[in-house]
Amino acid sequence: MSLLEIEDLKVHFPIRRGVVFDRVVGHVYAVDGVSLSVEAGQTYGLVGESGCGKTTLGRAVLRLNDITEGAVRYKDTDLAQLSEEDMRRQRNKLQMVFQDPLGSLNPRQNIESILVEGMEAHKIGADRAERRERAQRTLDAVGLPSNAMSRYPHEFSGGQRQRIGIARALVLEPDLIICDEPVSALDVSIQAQVLNLLEELQEELGLTYLVIAHDLAVVRHISDVIGVMYLGGLVEEATSDELYANPRHPYTKALMSAVPVPDPDVEDNRERILLTGDLPSPANPPAGCRFHTRCPWRQETRCDTERPQLRLVSGGHKVACHFAEDIESGKIQPTTELAAAILPDAQVQTDSPTTPAE
Ligand SMILES: Nc1ncnc2c1ncn2[C@@H]1O[C@H](COP(=O)(O)OP(=O)(O)OP(=O)(O)O)[C@@H](O)[C@H]1O
Ligand code: SF4
Ligand SMILES: [Mg+2]
Repeated sequence: MSLLEIEDLKVHFPIRRGVVFDRVVGHVYAVDGVSLSVEAGQTYGLVGESGCGKTTLGRAVLRLNDITEGAVRYKDTDLAQLSEEDMRRQRNKLQMVFQDPLGSLNPRQNIESILVEGMEAHKIGADRAERRERAQRTLDAVGLPSNAMSRYPHEFSGGQRQRIGIARALVLEPDLIICDEPVSALDVSIQAQVLNLLEELQEELGLTYLVIAHDLAVVRHISDVIGVMYLGGLVEEATSDELYANPRHPYTKALMSAVPVPDPDVEDNRERILLTGDLPSPANPPAGCRFHTRCPWRQETRCDTERPQLRLVSGGHKVACHFAEDIESGKIQPTTELAAAILPDAQVQTDSPTTPAE
């Protein structure tokens, strides 16, 4: 059963100009037509480059950003349609854990106060004593020392602060936690600990996660399903294993090829695709396929004019590319002008494209 169903979600931020007349001169199409479902008890990993709209999508689910269009169904309720007041009442069920644990914790509040505050707002726990006890139990559960309650955020390490952020979400008994870059501010050695903690808590409490990261390696092991975003849209979605074994969208192929492989033989010979050119501005996204300005397989016929829909190509694997099948079969080769983007042994020549090395 899907706990969360996002349907054709759009979040467009108006760009305003003018001192006297506050005119809207354009929009940032931060999220522009995303549909996805998160199954109860599972983890959906959302990845993509900086600025592609991941945080905006996460915040829109919680209605921290205004929704321009589309539905966000949580159980049977379309959150997009709720009044502010009704949304506030739902909010303990949908929590967010942020990238920067220090920035998201009030430095002047001790940990007890941080944890109890949310419970009070949502009327969780009968009295102060019960809330305190609950806070203490939650701190134990996330592996913080028993004297943590009376201490302040700056007294903790980065990893511990992220545990506080997780505890703050947990005390409210959420069903769904949106983790926005939960470990990218942490040392690599600490990252695994926090990811393991999230997994343990999920198993124990039956939590559902939407985990946002720009780094594919972070979401790989904890995600059941992974969605890849590019410029406000979802370009590929598959189970974690399937996506890693068989990335189908050119953008995903490029992202994957940037992740080093531990086996040196494989590492030396694998296909590497460097993304050339900057990420276009979401205020002025390219027409047609949004990836066409950087895609080595671009075909002028359709790529420049027709935006590909996310569609099933096999099993549960969805890809938003007109030519997914032809790229897979080798019928379409990387095109000449971006040939230099295929490194290092691809032997693609500028005038006669040939097969890149596998
Ligand atoms: N409140 C806002 N008003 C205007 N534009 C915004 C606002 N919030 C985000 N944006 C723009 O929307 C786009 C998507 O931003 P978002 O923060 O969602 O990206 P992201 O994928 O989370 O990136 P990162 O990996 O850097 O966190 C960016 O171009 C950003 O500048
Ligand atoms: S639709 Fe065209 S430009 Fe877009 S990813 Fe597919 S081949 Fe590349
Ligand atoms: Mg972000």
